[in-house]
Parts: sequence; structure tokens; C-alpha cells
Amino acid sequence: MTDVTSKVAEQIEFLRGLRQIRQLKPEPIPADALRDILEVARWTGSARNIQPWELIVIHDRATLQKLGTIPDGRGPHLVNAGAGIALVMSGDLEHPDFDTYDEGRLSERIMLAAEAHELGSAIGWFKGGASDEAKRILGVPSVRLLRTIMSIGVVDAEGYDKRQRPAQPRKSLADIVHQERW
Ligand SMILES: Cc1cc2nc3c(=O)[nH]c(=O)nc-3n(C[C@H](O)[C@H](O)[C@H](O)COP(=O)(O)O)c2cc1C
Repeated sequence: MTDVTSKVAEQIEFLRGLRQIRQLKPEPIPADALRDILEVARWTGSARNIQPWELIVIHDRATLQKLGTIPDGRGPHLVNAGAGIALVMSGDLEHPDFDTYDEGRLSERIMLAAEAHELGSAIGWFKGGASDEAKRILGVPSVRLLRTIMSIGVVDAEGYDKRQRPAQPRKSLADIVHQERW
């Protein structure tokens, strides 16, 4: 394999291999990693380039504990995360689809940047698609949408081993790809 070919193969494997990792250690994450994650997030593309997001970085253990255990949460992984990142979206009621689509892109970028630093990351979505309780805990204005909080952290290798863990199955390409027409 030429250098170029092996670099492409490496990058494709990096992208293909991205997994949600919920088994994290409650250790601080390096400042340079966090800076890179936020920088990659900042450059996410968005509908009409509106960039309808603001991020709250959470290190405080008591806050992470609260967010990970609130009744409308689905992110128990936050309890052991090195940091949480709340994705606060615009809440634009005229274009809710923009928020939804852009939030997905943003979260995937955050995961990829974390993976580049060999950190684990996980998405937590609030039940019902939003959480007033999480907004209250974080002081987010009521008009904004807070649906997703992400965990970032050092992977707890005892709890999680990417190589040994059976991959969550995916549909085959034959099942999902059509050529030229449906
Ligand atoms: C929109 C969205 C919402 C999700 N919400 C949660 C969640 O609330 N809690 C959680 O633990 N995982 C959540 N996940 C993670 C998925 O369960 C995970 O990506 C899927 O099971 C595939 O797992 P893998 O990445 O390890 O292969 C969410 C993923 C997406 C894309």
C-alpha cells in the first residue's frame, strides 16, 4: 500500500469505527483535547450557516451527577464523564428542523474530535425531546432547546473494550443502498 492509500484506509477506519462509549472514568480530560473538541464543533456546518448552537461545558461533579440522574434523562453515562457538553439549540419554532439536523451534525463532530484524542463520548437525549429540569440546573433560558447532553471522558478500559465488544449490528449495504432508483 502506498502512503496515500494507507492514510485513506486509516481515516476510513477511524470514521467507520466511531462508537458510542458510555463506560468513562471520572477523571479530568486534557485541556488541549477539550479545546480541539470545541474548535471542531465550532466549524460544524449548519443550515444557512446560522450556527444555531451554544455549548455549556460542565466539569462540576455534582452537576454531572444531577444531570445523569434526573428523571427525564437518558444519560447515566454523565455521572462518570470527565466533562459534559450540553448542546443548547436556538429553539427556533419556525425552523425546528434546522435545530434537529444541525444538532445531529454537531454531536457527531464532537464524538469524532473526542475519538481523535482517544477519548470516549456518548450522546444523552432527554425523554420527550427536551428537559426543563436540565435547563433549570444549567440556567438555560426557557425559549432555548436543550435536548442533548454529551459525555466526554477517558475510557474505562475495564468496563469497555472496543476490540472485544461485539459491534452493535448494522444493516448491510445491500439492505440500505439502491442504485439509480428505489
Ligand atoms: C439522536 C440520538 C439520540 C441518542 N440518545 C441516547 C441516549 O439518550 N442515551 C444513550 O445512552 N445513547 C443514546 N444514543 C446513542 C445510540 O444508542 C448509539 O449511537 C447506538 O446504539 C449505536 O451504538 P454504537 O455507536 O456503539 O454502535 C443516541 C444516539 C442518537 C443518534
